[in-house]
Amino acid sequence: MKHIQFKFNDVFNDIDTLILPVNDQGLISDRIPDLPQKEALTQLISELHASGDFSGKTGKTLLLVKPNGFDIQRLLLVGLGDTAKLSVKSYLTCLKAAASALDHCGATHIINALIYAQPDEYTLDWAVSQNAQIFQRSFYDYSHESRGEHPVKEPKVESITFPCSSQTGDNLDQATQQGQATALGMALTQDLANMPSNFCTPSFLADTAIELGKTYGYDINILDREEMIEMGMGSFMAVAQGARTPPKMICLSYTGANSEQAPIALVGKGVTFDTGGISLKPGAAMDEMKYDMGGAATVLGVFKALGELKPTINVVGIIPATENMPAGNAIKPGDVVTSLSGQTIEILNTDAEGRLILCDALTYAQQTYQPSKIIDMATLTGACIVALGHHVSAIMGNNQQLVDELLDAGQHTYDRFWQLPLGEEWDEQLKSNFADMANIGGPGGGSITAAQFLARYTKEIDWAHLDIAGTAWVSGKDKGATGRPVPALIEYLLNTIKTKA
Ligand code: BES
Ligand code: MN
Ligand code: ZN
Repeated sequence: MKHIQFKFNDVFNDIDTLILPVNDQGLISDRIPDLPQKEALTQLISELHASGDFSGKTGKTLLLVKPNGFDIQRLLLVGLGDTAKLSVKSYLTCLKAAASALDHCGATHIINALIYAQPDEYTLDWAVSQNAQIFQRSFYDYSHESRGEHPVKEPKVESITFPCSSQTGDNLDQATQQGQATALGMALTQDLANMPSNFCTPSFLADTAIELGKTYGYDINILDREEMIEMGMGSFMAVAQGARTPPKMICLSYTGANSEQAPIALVGKGVTFDTGGISLKPGAAMDEMKYDMGGAATVLGVFKALGELKPTINVVGIIPATENMPAGNAIKPGDVVTSLSGQTIEILNTDAEGRLILCDALTYAQQTYQPSKIIDMATLTGACIVALGHHVSAIMGNNQQLVDELLDAGQHTYDRFWQLPLGEEWDEQLKSNFADMANIGGPGGGSITAAQFLARYTKEIDWAHLDIAGTAWVSGKDKGATGRPVPALIEYLLNTIKTKA
């Protein structure tokens, strides 16, 4: 993906396009400092408002080419609606509308005053970061990135200048970098998730990790089937036994701080296709189960962003990757297996495979890397969509401070989580007559019982679990991966440095 050059400047030289926020009264915000030809612009916009050519309604845009009497090639007006009522959601909608209005035009060097239009309770840093992220993300084009043929988008944009003095300092610079790196990470996450499962196999995910390792200097370790059987990952290997594509455990280490410092572990579910196995899924929308590696794609996207940002932290990424297939040698309901932790599991439903691969990854992460905490992310349960829909991911965990920090990061980036409870009552639903636990918890509380299963493998460590079943992709006519929850995780990881300092 082409990188936009972001700059700060209060001088409007060498600019061909000006983006201006306008409210529903036809006024530009007085927060914008030192706007050249401000009076003439104000005049022009109020005429357009009066004539009905531009209402200033939320998310509406008007692109004027060679406006008479102005030294600029293009003027893009972006409607904010009633600014007193502007929500974060509407503001972000406006940014997306502005970016898409410039999709197919000649704009090359842009000055963007939308950084002054954010809702009152948000800072300039925040606005700059969101603008950098959304404008950079508008270059994302699956067909272009992944197949190299028939690019739909060939953006002409080279630079975006934020009209404020660069002296405002490091904060804005950091905010820009975070926004842009987040966009690049999300693009990788989206690409991997959108790719069909005949291309995006466990080996492909492993190769992607190896590539990232080469580019950014990460240590990469890939375990294959024989090693994992040997090590005793009986649960993960049970899911993988029906798959012809070789399973992989993909491990990445980013060392940005003193190597003595315990890393934060990110564990991502990498089911590259989930048929359900012998407990076969119904046919409708089964194609969407190519997205069942959204957790894995998130880990890789976060590592891409870490490589760009180089923060002073240590992070390990652990991805158990396999297909879940029905086969002559596939696991069957009632089979009992022994996980790496030694705990035994009765597999009552082969479609509850995510937890079976994650439990071994969680144990392996703790044994191998002694992390300070673990965050896992997984498209784990359909029940999560029933409970929360598609706008927030579910979060559960055994340490409220960790959960709170993730909730805050999600709120700040508008990549939100909503906490569900954990407790003994749900844990008891996992009781089995034939093993230490069953892999399903019966009807009711499906997302919680899934998390409760994972909790049995994270008793000794601070742990949070993100169920991204409803948020990793969207269905319908705009079907595609979202790149979530990359923004929240990057925010969380960067915040861990600030809290220490
Ligand atoms: N990958 C699915 C969960 C899923 C389903 C995510 C639909 C997004 C959309 C997971 O492996 C699964 O099949 N879970 C089962 C668990 C059940 C058998 C206890 C489910 O949710 O039905
Ligand atoms: Mn499943
Ligand atoms: Zn699954």
